Amino acid sequence: MTLADHHSSAAWKLETQLVQDGRQRWNEGPAHVSIVQPIYASTTYLHGNMERLDQAFKSPAPGEKRSFVYARQGNPNATQLEEVLARAEGGVGAVAFGSGMAAIHAALLAAGAAPGAKILAAQDLYGQTIALLRQVFAPQGVEIVLCDLCCASAAERIRSEQPDIVFVETISNPLVKVTDLDAISSAAREVGAVTLVDSTFTTPCLLRPIEHGFDLVIHSATKYLGGHGDSTGGLVVSARESLLQSLRSYASLLGAMLSPFESYLILRGVKTLALRMERHCENALRIAHFLRDHPAVARVHYPGLPEHPQHEQARRLLAPGRFGGLLSFELKQQTRAAAFRFMDSLQLCAPATSLGDVHTLVSYPPISSHRDLSRAELQQAGITEGCVRLSVGIEDAEDIMHDLDQALQQATA
Ligand SMILES: Cc1ncc(COP(=O)(O)O)c(C=O)c1O
Repeated sequence: MTLADHHSSAAWKLETQLVQDGRQRWNEGPAHVSIVQPIYASTTYLHGNMERLDQAFKSPAPGEKRSFVYARQGNPNATQLEEVLARAEGGVGAVAFGSGMAAIHAALLAAGAAPGAKILAAQDLYGQTIALLRQVFAPQGVEIVLCDLCCASAAERIRSEQPDIVFVETISNPLVKVTDLDAISSAAREVGAVTLVDSTFTTPCLLRPIEHGFDLVIHSATKYLGGHGDSTGGLVVSARESLLQSLRSYASLLGAMLSPFESYLILRGVKTLALRMERHCENALRIAHFLRDHPAVARVHYPGLPEHPQHEQARRLLAPGRFGGLLSFELKQQTRAAAFRFMDSLQLCAPATSLGDVHTLVSYPPISSHRDLSRAELQQAGITEGCVRLSVGIEDAEDIMHDLDQALQQATA
């Protein structure tokens, strides 16, 4: 019996699921079973006799337990992680990948990104996602249309473009714009487009895009899901069985599977996801207020602030009182030199390129996530020379603010 079938678990809240779904049950094995799944460091698996090996090669029918034959096709650690995330997101299943980018690549292929197809994508998608669309899919004859899908006319644009695939992020980087998922998914359904959303910034603790009509939900598990800055992975959760089978097939064909050890680390992270997200969000809201009132700061972008353009939308879409752990702000001195001085003066916050860690991380988008954009493109995206992104960690908020304050003073001295 899988945990999902276990009657008493059906009513568990997400916080309980994330802890309990990822542990082993005594009735699934012999007399003693470790509560934490061992790491299956094996390239291949024995099945007793040839008849059983032959059966193991077959793809499982929906709801059937998976059999393992060869590591590139999957492993028990990745499968457990997939089951936990699929249930957390309310999908029919999930596939784990070696990185967020591998997950995005396979999700696009599964959604039908083939020659002649048209993808309508948000213009402020993660920089490498845009590079993947332009450098890998466009040369193969996939039409890529980038536009603002956070604005009020997004649904109208979908109806007029008639794309095959629509691709958005729940919250954009670095200006943390919030996408109206309901408007996007209903317009996409009208034109028969498959909908993809990168939910890395929100996680199922803040938002479950399948409930808002999306077909595929993507995560860079390198970020909040793993959460400790020590593992790289990606996940795609599917709302539909046919897309799930296709994702599995691409994971194996592309050799993009997540390894047993990384799966173990990410599942370990997922158990504390709900607690960490609470703290990330609480800290970020306090720090957004602190920065808004700081004399060296011109502007703060955070959906939890009432002046944020999509504040009401964020309140409607996200878990009550939770607006994520990401924010960005603009220094009053709008120069690269001032931003560098600020980042060089930090002592607690780390000037490092990632997000969603327990550690507070600070990045300068023009040299990291948005490095490939020209000055004009940066300007068009609203990313100024004084713009700094903060991924607020789970340290004490006062300690983070103290560090930001002293670095801001140094930067403006
Ligand atoms: C929103 C978002 N999606 C996807 C990715 C890619 O994930 P990975 O670095 O795990 O390949 C990133 C990486 O920063 C990201 O920020």
